[in-house]
Amino acid sequence: MEATGAERPEPEVVVAEDAAAARRRLAELFADTARAAVAARGRFDVALAGGRTPAGAYDLLRLPPLYGRVPWRRVHVWFGDERCVAPDHPDSNYGMAKEHLLAGVPVPADQVHRFAGEGDPEEAARRYAAELDAAFPPRGGGPRYAFDLVLLGMGGEGHTASLFPHSPALSSPLPTAAPFVPKLGARRLTLTPRAINDARLVAFLVTGGGKAWAVRETLRGQGPDEALPARVIRPARGRVVWILDPEAAAGLSGE
Ligand code: 6PG
Repeated sequence: MEATGAERPEPEVVVAEDAAAARRRLAELFADTARAAVAARGRFDVALAGGRTPAGAYDLLRLPPLYGRVPWRRVHVWFGDERCVAPDHPDSNYGMAKEHLLAGVPVPADQVHRFAGEGDPEEAARRYAAELDAAFPPRGGGPRYAFDLVLLGMGGEGHTASLFPHSPALSSPLPTAAPFVPKLGARRLTLTPRAINDARLVAFLVTGGGKAWAVRETLRGQGPDEALPARVIRPARGRVVWILDPEAAAGLSGE
């Protein structure tokens, strides 16, 4: 039975001493979660966040000491979202992850699952959903898309992955979508809450004062969920951890 809102664990908030410490906390969480998942189930399925914020955390993972803690050959890399560009385009989230992580760790190539940003968006979303369905077969009533970890960032207006305010993707029954984003004037490829909310653990890494309003509104606001997409990320049975620097957490001060 789906957990009701009352039963869902409250988001956990970690305010690190600065942005570098926040990136370290995320990288350590990645490594610890990877080890535990492989020990328990023989593999670690992680969806990486795009944008700029996580790059420094990915860099820490391909260097000692964290590099040696992760059983890389058992890691399956997915993506929370992708821009509709080729993998070698400077805006590609896959390209960013390859530069800051994947080129430096021995994850088998067939265990890196990227959205085909270079192709037709609707077809790319359908193909990614098929890959997810193959990797996460129905499990007798448990959450289907049971990622061990989904990493997310957040935009200043509250978008996460490529789930933007009032997007129809927020209520999609499918695990992926290819929404047109009016403010960008472009299509994006994204996991939907249908997939993300099946995760065992979701970790947001948000830094900088420009995100303080969105962090406060997401965690403490009363507005409609569809206006703040990150509010829709509430795994039915998983944990949500927000790793913030003091600037991004400024709207939460006094708690
Ligand atoms: C993307 C990301 C997006 C990102 C936020 C924050 O493709 O851009 O998936 O959701 O996390 O826009 O981006 P920054 O980390 O660059 O501020």
